Amino acid sequence: MLRSLVDKLEKEERLSGAEFERLIAGRTPELAGYVFEKARKARERYYGKKVFIRGLIEFTNYCRNNCLYCGLRRDNRAAERYRLTEQEILECCAEGHALGFRTFVLQGGEDPFFADELLCRIIRSIKKDFPDCAVTLSLGERDAESYQRFFDAGADRYLLRHETADEEHYARLHPPSQSPGERKRCLFSLKDIGYQVGCGFMVGSPYQTPKHLARDMLFMQDLEPHMVGIGPFIPHHATPFAREPAGTLELTLFMLGLTRLMLPSVLLPSTTALATIDPKGRELGILAGANVVMPNLSPPGVREKYLLYDNKATTGAESAQAVRELKEVMKALGYSVVVDRGDFVPPKSQPERPNESGLKSQPEPQPGSQPELRPKSS
Ligand code: 5AD
Ligand code: SF4
Repeated sequence: MLRSLVDKLEKEERLSGAEFERLIAGRTPELAGYVFEKARKARERYYGKKVFIRGLIEFTNYCRNNCLYCGLRRDNRAAERYRLTEQEILECCAEGHALGFRTFVLQGGEDPFFADELLCRIIRSIKKDFPDCAVTLSLGERDAESYQRFFDAGADRYLLRHETADEEHYARLHPPSQSPGERKRCLFSLKDIGYQVGCGFMVGSPYQTPKHLARDMLFMQDLEPHMVGIGPFIPHHATPFAREPAGTLELTLFMLGLTRLMLPSVLLPSTTALATIDPKGRELGILAGANVVMPNLSPPGVREKYLLYDNKATTGAESAQAVRELKEVMKALGYSVVVDRGDFVPPKSQPERPNESGLKSQPEPQPGSQPELRPKSS
């Protein structure tokens, strides 16, 4: 009975790989409804009816990588590249702050132009001008020293999706120069430094099977991230995966629900990709257990150039009117958008957690390496 596996996941906050695979492969609409109901209860235990908003600033679309799925890959010569200046980034923050945003997410491709010194200066400026705000970085793989410098400059959180925890699957989505081991090392190193850390994966990426998704769940059991980004794969016309089908709304929602049950206090966005494949995607994500929305604060002139996939939805909320609309939509679901940094709340009870995943990630997190969440500057 799959329901009993859902009950077990809710109670113990973990399952074996085989159990996750059975749940995912055997899911039905009824089972999904059961998962979502429990997922909503779990998120409300920690965050009540609050929905946190994050202002996304896409500050560069240059990327030295060549991920096969992404429209910003190096080999896409047709992409029109841009970089925001420090001044432009600060203007985005000022606009966002006035709209009630208290977290800014600096997201970009892996762009060596933004050397450590420049990024540290930008982070310090944001923290100085907006001391009540959290700064989240999402700029890919760097060495541990760089991550430490950004943290010392004031960065609070780091998003780095692991994309897929399965090595063979990873190798089918990326060129050989990109390694899954390196990606995982980065995540553990970020956690060690003390960041609130987000990993994540695409649902329905080419060649993905329920077994791969089960491995993603096991990897997250080991990492215990503070944030998880999950969205459907959507093809981009100028990539090798142009003709691959998109991931489905249904499976993405199911994975959101399972993730909420496994990591009940995780910060879980209802992603732009989800809103892109279905006009009701964002709301359905919230009802499946998500508690974060990340509207775009990038200047209008560059927004249509940050194209990871085709037909990217505009997230709205970049204007006072759009924020009001987002609040209305959430209110209609019984939730309320709050003006808050929206920091991670540590889980209340850590149930007994024997390590049975067999996937204990290299390198082993050191005892006592759990991040001390720094005191809020607000
Ligand atoms: N479809 C959906 N998500 C994508 N991403 C990149 N390309 C695509 C795509 N075609 C996601 C990746 C990356 C994040 C920034 O966007 O998971 O980590
Ligand atoms: Fe670059 Fe990220 Fe796109 Fe990969 S997914 S090509 S790292 S922007």
